[in-house]
Amino acid sequence: MKHNICIIGGGGREHAIAWKLRRSAQVGKIYALPGNAGLAGIAECIPGIKATDLDAIVDFVKAHPDIYMTVVAPDDPLSMGLVDRLEACGCRAFGPNKAAAIIEASKVFSKNLMKKYGIPTAQYETFDDYETAAAYIKDCRIPVVLKADGLALGKGVLICNTREEAEEGLKEIMLDRAFGAAGSSVVVEEFLTGFEVSVLCFCDGKTVVPMASSQDHKRALDGDKGLNTGGMGAFSPSRKYTDELAKKAYDTVIVPTVEAMNAEGRPFKGVLYFGLMIDGDDIRVLEYNARFGDPETQAVLPRMTSDLFDVFEAVIDGKLTPAMVRFSDEACVCVVAASGGYPQSYKKGLPITIGDVGDAIVFHAGTAMSADALVTSGGRVLGVTALGASLEAAREKAYKAIEKVEFEGMFYRHDICKL
Ligand code: AMP
Ligand code: GLY
Repeated sequence: MKHNICIIGGGGREHAIAWKLRRSAQVGKIYALPGNAGLAGIAECIPGIKATDLDAIVDFVKAHPDIYMTVVAPDDPLSMGLVDRLEACGCRAFGPNKAAAIIEASKVFSKNLMKKYGIPTAQYETFDDYETAAAYIKDCRIPVVLKADGLALGKGVLICNTREEAEEGLKEIMLDRAFGAAGSSVVVEEFLTGFEVSVLCFCDGKTVVPMASSQDHKRALDGDKGLNTGGMGAFSPSRKYTDELAKKAYDTVIVPTVEAMNAEGRPFKGVLYFGLMIDGDDIRVLEYNARFGDPETQAVLPRMTSDLFDVFEAVIDGKLTPAMVRFSDEACVCVVAASGGYPQSYKKGLPITIGDVGDAIVFHAGTAMSADALVTSGGRVLGVTALGASLEAAREKAYKAIEKVEFEGMFYRHDICKL
């Protein structure tokens, strides 16, 4: 029996999820709303329905009773309550409901949750008025980190190395509203040092099972220079996240977070993403996401050997077990090909050519078809991804493959996985 699946979203993450589901003998047709040109090769895309158009999505799913399950991948529709709306119509959905998605949608909520339940994180204060925040910043420790409360495309975090930068940043967030309504409250927190690791976990509300670890690269340019982006590449596993650290993170952060959400009456079902900062054996939470990370998913799912459809089923039904989530020993590296100018303004509609990339996988992020030609349609255009026996081997393959890709103004980082 094959099951048809509807995937909400249209980036590299959604392409990777669909690519992995395609490998399941249990999956039939896949719909992608809105999808992209890469997804169109393995799914029926509905470019007219955006991931934030909840009414149109619910109407579409209701009008297609052949859809067995809807997978909600991006943060916006999750925090807007798409899973609640689908479930209210009797539709099966993968992802947290609105009450649980708040763990990502409000940094004030997540910081207060960690404080209340003793989950290690950076020291912080929260403010909802500019004057009090400005007074605090006048003599807080520098460097300091400012975070707009709400969702801001991963860009609402400012690391301020001087007091002047902090004062300017606070104005930007709270007065100029550079991140819109996300800036009505702000978290001001201690600057942490160490290395970062992303740990994506499946969670069925009770049982939580980590996937293979990964690391992303947020800055636009080589050597971690340039502006923050949605992510310029990722690799899995992390070299530094030892089994001992993984066990400690599981005991002190991962399980306590799931228990805290239950205690708050907000059981979490879906993928819970832990962004951790590790210094020696000190582990602290930098951020939570209520979904698969992007580009991390592009480096993690190709390593997964279990059937993703089975795991989604188990999460929804509250039947998840650790044995269901398996990964190969291979390493995986994903290098993002971005549009010139990203993360600021960039051109769209530029023709893309993809030559022979061997056995590398080219996940599409910002692509579209224009009169039969593949063109760019976003800042992050492709995630060129390769598996290998080691990180070095995977890295070499991914970089060899990305040389076969071309579009005007294309750039990519040359040091993904080199750290
Ligand atoms: P977030 O969206 O909270 O993950 O923040 C984006 C990035 O900012 C993180 O991946 C870190 O690189 C950095 N960051 C966030 N919080 C801190 C902190 N307290 N100390 C140092 N770096 C941070
Ligand atoms: N790569 C980080 C995120 O998905 O938010």
